[in-house]
Amino acid sequence: MKNERIAVYPGTFDPITYGHLDIIERAVRLFDKVIVAIALNKNKTALFRVEERIEMIEESTKNIQGVEIVTFQGLSARFSEQMNAIALIRGLRAVSDFEYEFQMALINRKIGKNTETVFLMPTEKNTYLSSSVVREIASFHGDVSPFVPDFVQKKLEEKFKDESTRDN
Ligand code: COA
Repeated sequence: MKNERIAVYPGTFDPITYGHLDIIERAVRLFDKVIVAIALNKNKTALFRVEERIEMIEESTKNIQGVEIVTFQGLSARFSEQMNAIALIRGLRAVSDFEYEFQMALINRKIGKNTETVFLMPTEKNTYLSSSVVREIASFHGDVSPFVPDFVQKKLEEKFKDESTRDN
C-alpha cells in the first residue's frame, strides 16, 4: 500500500499478555500496519524461546487485522526507521512508567529522527500487568487466565508442568 502508516511496537513479549494485546488493538485503529517487534534483548533472560514467543503472538493476534510480527536486534528507534515506521508505540500503564518512558522517548528521538513515540494507555484493569508477574504466578501454578489468552496459558502450564511433578 502506498503511504502506509506503519507503527512499530517493540518489546520482549515473554510472554504476550492481555495488556500488550490491548495496546495492539488500540494501535491498529490508528495505523495501517502495526509491527510487533520482538527485541532480541541481551539484558533479559527469557523464559520462552523466540520461536515460542512468535507463535504466542501469532495465535493471540490472529483475529486482529494489520499486525505483522518480526524480531530485531539493536536499537528500536533505528529498527523503526528501517521499517519506514512513523511511530514507535509504547504503553503507559501508570505514573511509575512515565520517567523511564520519557527518557526513552527523548533518546529515541535523537537516534531515529523521523520516529515519534506514541504512548497508548491500556484499559485500567491491565495497568498492573507485566510479563514477569504472569511468569511468577504461573511458576507457582496460580491461575493466569485473567491475564493471558488460553493459548499462552497452556504454554505457561507446559513450561512449569515438570516442576510440579518434581520431588521437593
Ligand atoms: N501490558 C502488560 N504488560 C506490559 C505492557 C502492557 N501494556 N507494557 C509493558 N509491559 C510489561 C512488559 O511485558 C515488561 O515485562 P517484564 O519486564 O516484567 O518482563 C515490562 O512491562 C516492561 O515493559 P517494556 O519496558 O516494554 O520492556 P520490554 O522488555 O518488553 O521491552 C524494549 C523493552 C525491548 C522495547 C527496549 O529494551 C528496547 O527498545 N530495546 C532495544 C534497545 C534500545 O533501543 N534501547 C533504548 C535506547 S538506549
